Amino acid sequence: MYKTAFVVSAALVCQALAAYEKVWDYNASNFFDNFNFIDAPDSQFTNGFAQYVGQDAAQASGLAKIVNGKVRLGVDSTNKYSTTSTGRKSVRLQSWGYFDNGLLVADFAHVPVAGCGMWPAFWVYQGETSKTYSEIDILENVNLQTANTHSFYTSEQCTINVQKGNLVPEKSTNCHWTANGPSSQGCSFNAEPGTFNQPFNDQYKKNEVPADLNSGKPNPDAWTKSPTVHITPKSCDFNKAFRMFHIIINTTFCGSWAGDDFVNTNYAGQCKKQTGSNDCKAWVAANPSDFVNTFWEINSIKLYQRT
Ligand SMILES: *[C@@H]1O[C@H](CO)[C@@H](O)[C@H](O)[C@H]1NC(C)=O
Ligand SMILES: *[C@@H]1O[C@H](CO)[C@@H](O)[C@H](O)[C@H]1NC(C)=O
Repeated sequence: MYKTAFVVSAALVCQALAAYEKVWDYNASNFFDNFNFIDAPDSQFTNGFAQYVGQDAAQASGLAKIVNGKVRLGVDSTNKYSTTSTGRKSVRLQSWGYFDNGLLVADFAHVPVAGCGMWPAFWVYQGETSKTYSEIDILENVNLQTANTHSFYTSEQCTINVQKGNLVPEKSTNCHWTANGPSSQGCSFNAEPGTFNQPFNDQYKKNEVPADLNSGKPNPDAWTKSPTVHITPKSCDFNKAFRMFHIIINTTFCGSWAGDDFVNTNYAGQCKKQTGSNDCKAWVAANPSDFVNTFWEINSIKLYQRT
């Protein structure tokens, strides 16, 4: 069975109605040349329990490989860890190239499947400093959740009008990354159930892909399915607020989101029930086989831009 999931980020809509041309095509033939493997513990980013490994180690251990013409990015699902280690081995790939706007199309044959404790993300961002920051999280959630969340963060003042999308209740339409307080910044949207985790792999079918995308001449204005999220600027210069995006794919464990959600009944707390554990790290450290299906399988990631 052939399953394909498409995620389209067309948030950055320009006024000009020129055609889109393909400018990047990352696939099995060139993927590892176009992405940098960050070799660092995730504790330095999001307080996660993952040790991201470099390219040589990732390829030698099979965490990153080409299988049947697809790029497979996984996590260690054989070894146990100490809870005092830097965490379960994983990968974090960041594109060398960056872009300001366009139509980004990711064709996933498989997205990571829980695993209580997992926190995978496919996202684009600029920089780590508060002076110039933009981030769009395209596919992200944690643990057993089955609905994707999309988030927008800016260092520019930026309020938006929501044309389509379910704003996360504690968030606002001010996308500035401190607008809603330090722990709930940005504009975040919940997609429908079935857009994350195994249901995402089950549900998305190749025959739903717009024909003009398959032919390499996409015209999103003519697509008939409505987007999960559609935002327009209220008080915001999108060209300034959203730019210089590197593509990132990383899978961490526990940390600020997956760890809270694992146990906290204010979040889902499903993992506490399912595992009988109160401790995300201890669970992830001791249960490698829970993460056999926590892998990405990528047919391609393409960027189109207006000519
Ligand atoms: C993979 O990408 C390369 C260059 O970006 C392109 O020439 C080639 O056709 C792509 N392969 C497939 C199978 O689409
Ligand atoms: C990926 O890495 C970034 C740091 O660059 C971090 O902010 C983010 O939370 C990480 N996400 C996941 C899912 O690992």
